[in-house]
Amino acid sequence: MESNKLYIETYGCQMNFADTEIVLGILKNHGYSLAENPDEADVILLNTCSIRDNAEQRIYGRLGNLKVLKNHNPDLVLGILGCMAERLRDDLILEKKVVDLVVGPDEYRRLPELIDVAFNGGKGIGVKLSRTETYDDIVPHREDGLQAWISVMRGCDKFCTFCVVPFTRGRERSRQLASIVDEVKQLSDRGFKEVTLLGQNVNSYKDEENDFADLLSACAEVDRSMRIRFTTSHPQDLSDKLLYTISEYSNICNYIHLPVQSGSDRILELMNRTYTIDHYLKLIEKAKKIIPGVSFSTDIISGFPTETYEDHIMTLDLMTQVRYDGAYMFKYSPREGTKAFKMNDDVPDDVKTKRLQEIIDLQSKISYEINQQLIGKEEIVLVEGPSKKSELFLSGRTDSNKVAIFPSATNIKPGDYVKVKIKRATQATLFGDFVCQVDPFNLSALKTA
Ligand code: 5AD
Ligand code: SF4
Repeated sequence: MESNKLYIETYGCQMNFADTEIVLGILKNHGYSLAENPDEADVILLNTCSIRDNAEQRIYGRLGNLKVLKNHNPDLVLGILGCMAERLRDDLILEKKVVDLVVGPDEYRRLPELIDVAFNGGKGIGVKLSRTETYDDIVPHREDGLQAWISVMRGCDKFCTFCVVPFTRGRERSRQLASIVDEVKQLSDRGFKEVTLLGQNVNSYKDEENDFADLLSACAEVDRSMRIRFTTSHPQDLSDKLLYTISEYSNICNYIHLPVQSGSDRILELMNRTYTIDHYLKLIEKAKKIIPGVSFSTDIISGFPTETYEDHIMTLDLMTQVRYDGAYMFKYSPREGTKAFKMNDDVPDDVKTKRLQEIIDLQSKISYEINQQLIGKEEIVLVEGPSKKSELFLSGRTDSNKVAIFPSATNIKPGDYVKVKIKRATQATLFGDFVCQVDPFNLSALKTA
């Protein structure tokens, strides 16, 4: 019998992309093969995101398009995975009747069985959250490449009042250190050069006596020529030990994603973020001392309930003080079931939009200035391949995750580390000249470049 063909689209955060690789690992083991297009597929899955309303609306729109395929192929199974499966199971299956399959983030092992239910005309539903599921033993399906994501823990116990994640992804749980280290080894053997360890709050990683700093150093030891990144950190839980670990290993990137959300202590308290701006700024100062050259990115929400113009100005002030390399910036979106949902969403949409635009404009200016300061300096770049615009140029990333473009040089290939002297910069990209190749086992120049 010919194998069933699967088509999958992924929305939302990197955790979802990592989960899609787990889903592919599971279904390939059950004989599924991949379809290039939705119209060739027997099963179409959307791995979805609920973090803001616009993410969900986009996915509803896409479902509307895909449903049309069922007119030609009534046996087609259409399914929703991920956060929307947890949040909207009844709406999707019972009310809108648009899908045959709804499977939440902790039930992917049951996918083969639930898809069979749908093939036989039933509704495949699996939306239980688990306190223990980590998919530790599942080998994710990854195409060959240079860069991989590894999810090291699942769920979140922080309950920020705006956030739906604790409800859609459940309680926090960590994978075993040994199995993560094994995965890094396998990726290194396959020629991967960069691994990003993922979790909603990696700082609370725990496997018996090992904490996240232990995990990070164990991963960095596997292959000193492999860059290690991680995300996301919570300002309350980021330990000194972690900062020292980052500074100790030349292959752990000097880059910390540290969502602040707001510059106002009053708003932070309403958000249940459990730190003050004073604590946050002291943490940034400490990190700068321990890790010379460290850079930061952040997440910011504009227009949280009761946010005043003064609160908004405090956010802009904070951004000016920290000078983030980059930021992910959002308008507050009320999510049913969260604590903030019960607060009055009282900042009018046009005010949210205006404040968000001011935040974006300020960040653009800061990113541009930071990049201008790199002109004349040398950066170590992991070469990824030809630049998008021209085969005559190569593209790669610096330690601080900035894209750098430089003219191709003989014998330089994807996966090499090279030193590039920056000549010109925009807000998003560095342009430079090739200086020399760098010994991949001695990336310490990264720390001083
Ligand atoms: N509205 C707007 N932004 C949100 N985020 C999480 N929940 C919401 C929401 N309800 C943002 C936060 C978080 C990032 C992943 O998404 O900034 O850090
Ligand atoms: Fe959501 Fe807060 Fe957990 Fe991040 S730390 S996933 S914002 S609840």
